[in-house]
Amino acid sequence: MDGAAIAKGAEGSVYLSTYLGRDAVTKVRTPKGYRVPELDRRIRTQRIRSEARLIREARAAGIRTPIIYDVDTVECSITMERVKGVTVKRYLDEHPEEAERICRLIGTNIARLHNSKICHGDLTTSNMILTPAGELCIIDFSMGASLISVEDMGVDLRLLERGFTSAHPDIKDAYGYITEAYCQEKTGAQEVLDKVQEIKDRGRYT
Ligand SMILES: Nc1ncnc2c1ncn2[C@@H]1O[C@H](COP(=O)(O)OP(=O)(O)OP(=O)(O)O)[C@@H](O)[C@H]1O
Ligand SMILES: [Mg+2]
Repeated sequence: MDGAAIAKGAEGSVYLSTYLGRDAVTKVRTPKGYRVPELDRRIRTQRIRSEARLIREARAAGIRTPIIYDVDTVECSITMERVKGVTVKRYLDEHPEEAERICRLIGTNIARLHNSKICHGDLTTSNMILTPAGELCIIDFSMGASLISVEDMGVDLRLLERGFTSAHPDIKDAYGYITEAYCQEKTGAQEVLDKVQEIKDRGRYT
């Protein structure tokens, strides 16, 4: 990969790249030295395929996600559209007065995702990009799943709430706005919110 790294995590890296002359990003799953090489390759291949599939499925369901340009199962990488805009994390840091509107946008889009039986698995404001056109683009489906249960949706919302509180401690009522918008869009939303409460009571994630 020759482009500049824009993110380096434990599981892999994201680089600026191009695809047929278009601005792209390439997300690579790097090998884990402690795994048997053959098994390591299989795990990475499976994860990269799963992530690409979820991004496509969400997109097909009308949710804004990056266009997938290429999946390389040898290098274990996904090359996708480079979405213009800034992460919601950064946008909210710079425009706290927009919090209510952005939170409602987040709630509506997560509801659509859940209506399509997809959970994201890592809902944070760093995994959402606000485009210049004002769309909310959801990225990083590496922890996601499809054909999900109410429990999965509850965990998605619970993790989002917790992440919000730690990433944006000054934004008040964020979760309230998110869930209000979620309820307007999501079929059977109450069941999911009850599940969030149950998860909290269980204390597993607190
Ligand atoms: N398609 C894209 N267009 C523009 N920027 C992107 C795109 N994909 C990722 N990025 C940028 O790179 C960062 C990291 O990407 P991503 O969240 O997919 O990886 P990660 O969090 O390192 O991965 P993982 O959680 O799978 O280990 C994002 O927060 C975003 O700023
Ligand atoms: Mg991420």
